[in-house]
Amino acid sequence: MDQDPQLQLDPRHLSLLWASPDRAADVARMHAELFTPPWDQPSILKMLEHPAAAALIAVAGSKREPAGFIMAQLADDEAEILSVGVALKWQRLGLGARLIEGLVRAARRAEARRLFLEVSTDNSAALRLYEKLDFRRVGIRPKYYKVPGKDAVDALILALEF
Ligand SMILES: CC(C)(COP(=O)(O)OP(=O)(O)OC[C@H]1O[C@@H](n2cnc3c(N)ncnc32)[C@H](O)[C@@H]1OP(=O)(O)O)[C@@H](O)C(=O)NCCC(=O)NCCS
Repeated sequence: MDQDPQLQLDPRHLSLLWASPDRAADVARMHAELFTPPWDQPSILKMLEHPAAAALIAVAGSKREPAGFIMAQLADDEAEILSVGVALKWQRLGLGARLIEGLVRAARRAEARRLFLEVSTDNSAALRLYEKLDFRRVGIRPKYYKVPGKDAVDALILALEF
């Protein structure tokens, strides 16, 4: 039987690691669990191999299993989150916040001063998380997310200055 995830998230059993290209399969598996449509492994590999990539993977539990990821790109003094997710089993334990904070530390070291992201107006979990971390709304892309058979949903552009 699985251990209680709360116990497994003991800080001694949580690491944020730089996501090198050899982590593409782990990230693709988590992405497929969380997003429709998922990004395929070759696309994720390309992002992780990009010279401007900044990406982290969280490994958690006594088995150090992949639990979350964040992929971003750096350009001059700005960074942009391309995708962030926490595997269902590990959600609501603070990992999403830790991944973003880890990325902010990496972006700061690279002399970035601002972090951008896009989020769907119907993604209440992510909106709460970003609000809690002090992201501010800086723009909107009307009807940006198009899902067949459903009304298109607006994207908000959020930014965090640091
Ligand atoms: C958004 C996501 C990354 C959050 O990850 P997480 O590890 O569960 O988030 P955290 O535990 O760090 O949550 C921090 C805060 O965010 C808010 N939050 C997170 N998930 C929430 C939910 N399902 N409902 C309401 N608020 C939520 C809460 O304020 C939470 O603080 P609290 O637990 O003290 O109340 C995760 O839900 C996810 O992977 N979703 C699917 C992929 C996705 O939508 N990615 C973002 C695309 S822009």
